[in-house]
Amino acid sequence: MNKEHLTIFDTTLRDGEQSPGASMTGEEKLRIAMVLEKMKVDVIEAGFAIANKSELNAIDKIAQTIRESVICSLARARSDDIDIAGQSLRTAQRPRIHTFIATSPLHMQYKLKMTPAQVLEATNDAVRRARRYTDDVEFSCEDASRSDFDFLCRVIETAITAGATTINIPDTVGYGEPHEFGMLIQRIMEKVPAVTQIILSVHCHNDLGLAVANSLSAVRHGARQIECTINGIGERAGNAALEEIVMAIHTRSDLFPVTTAINTQQIVPASRLLSNIIGFPVQPNKAIVGANAFTHEAGIHQDGVLKKRDTYEIMRAEDVGLQSNKLVLGKHSGKSALRDRLQQLGILPDDDSLFDEAYQQFKILADKKHDIYDEDLYTVIGNITPTAVAHKFHFISLDAQSSTHQTPSATIRLAIDGTEYSTQAPGSGPIDATFSAIEKKVASGSILEHYLVNSISGGTDSQGEVTVRLQRNGHIANGTGADTDIIIASAKAYINALNILENCAGKSGHLGGV
Ligand code: KIV
Ligand code: ZN
Repeated sequence: MNKEHLTIFDTTLRDGEQSPGASMTGEEKLRIAMVLEKMKVDVIEAGFAIANKSELNAIDKIAQTIRESVICSLARARSDDIDIAGQSLRTAQRPRIHTFIATSPLHMQYKLKMTPAQVLEATNDAVRRARRYTDDVEFSCEDASRSDFDFLCRVIETAITAGATTINIPDTVGYGEPHEFGMLIQRIMEKVPAVTQIILSVHCHNDLGLAVANSLSAVRHGARQIECTINGIGERAGNAALEEIVMAIHTRSDLFPVTTAINTQQIVPASRLLSNIIGFPVQPNKAIVGANAFTHEAGIHQDGVLKKRDTYEIMRAEDVGLQSNKLVLGKHSGKSALRDRLQQLGILPDDDSLFDEAYQQFKILADKKHDIYDEDLYTVIGNITPTAVAHKFHFISLDAQSSTHQTPSATIRLAIDGTEYSTQAPGSGPIDATFSAIEKKVASGSILEHYLVNSISGGTDSQGEVTVRLQRNGHIANGTGADTDIIIASAKAYINALNILENCAGKSGHLGGV
């Protein structure tokens, strides 16, 4: 079968970032964009430029750095939005403006307070204005799956006549069902002959858990772009998960008339990096990237796999970039073994001094923990990767006490702008006492919104990875810290979150208007 190309449009940095608590700093977005480019994602939606200045700067930085993937900036169908989107893409090698307006009766009447005729006019104006900045213009009919079909087709025709090169059909509220959504795409292809001049795209939300199924059904009926996110993050229940879409197309190539350009071995590194940055752990049974996705527990399954792998495995773990969770290194491993392993995992630092630092951290960890797994190495690299976050606060040491008959207490030593302080505080437990001791000195005025401990590699000697989400004046900071002692990891995560809040007055909160 002669396969057509399926464009993978990643919106982790835009729709994904709209997940409650998933906001990222500009520097973090750039790190994700670089992994997406390495993965050979066709289009990276970098953000919604009009939301705020830091969003605009983040898109600008990504546009300056990424040369292969198309960089896309989102804009409502309004001239001020479109002009700022155009500005955010000034230096992009391959810029795309994505403009949208709602087309369902519900959205037009209650949200936009616009008549269908006004929506048609706004569509025409927005696409024409976007074309002043770039030849690559995408237009979305927000809430398409609940729109009147004939009106939807008129909007699509208008956008194509105005110069749109991609038309996106979003299932904005995750209401679609696979057969019905596939038929919607087929009916559009039949009713609007001009769609043969453009790429038809879909953007499905996961409110009923059908985002991936709806997207794949759309592909079978003619869609040639899917919008998706790493780990399926996104508004409410999220978007279609990139890893599931790509691996379904790859594994069931007998069914789909398309192929993608994705380097599937970058899937797990991208998933881990994102999870690390936003502090959302991936559920163990998550398809493709969950810790259990390639683990066989039942004896019958293990026996089958040992006899013939295909009995219970439809994909190879290596193909998604997952190395089996085996012991890789230990206390006696040298620099070349570490270099070799980091290279295999695709996380070897370019810079020699960074590699030396990674080696020092690795040695410290190997002294505390006998077996070093790949997961530990991801954390080591995450800890030493330079960030744009200047460190006002530094963790030095912690002494936390907890016993059955005494009030827990903690004494923390930390440096603030280079000066060392030591404070002590009681608490309901050692972690509460640690956070109270930090706050006694720092008085940040922030609210602890979320606290999470994750065991990195299993076993009681595993490193605990802690995520602390602090909120101050609407700004959110997700701090992470890892250590074999979870109370120390908690202190590091708290201090990391304080540094983030301090730097950019926190990460940007929710985007208005999308
Ligand atoms: O869900 C949606 O409709 C969107 C549009 C902006 C494409 O995110
Ligand atoms: Zn969306």
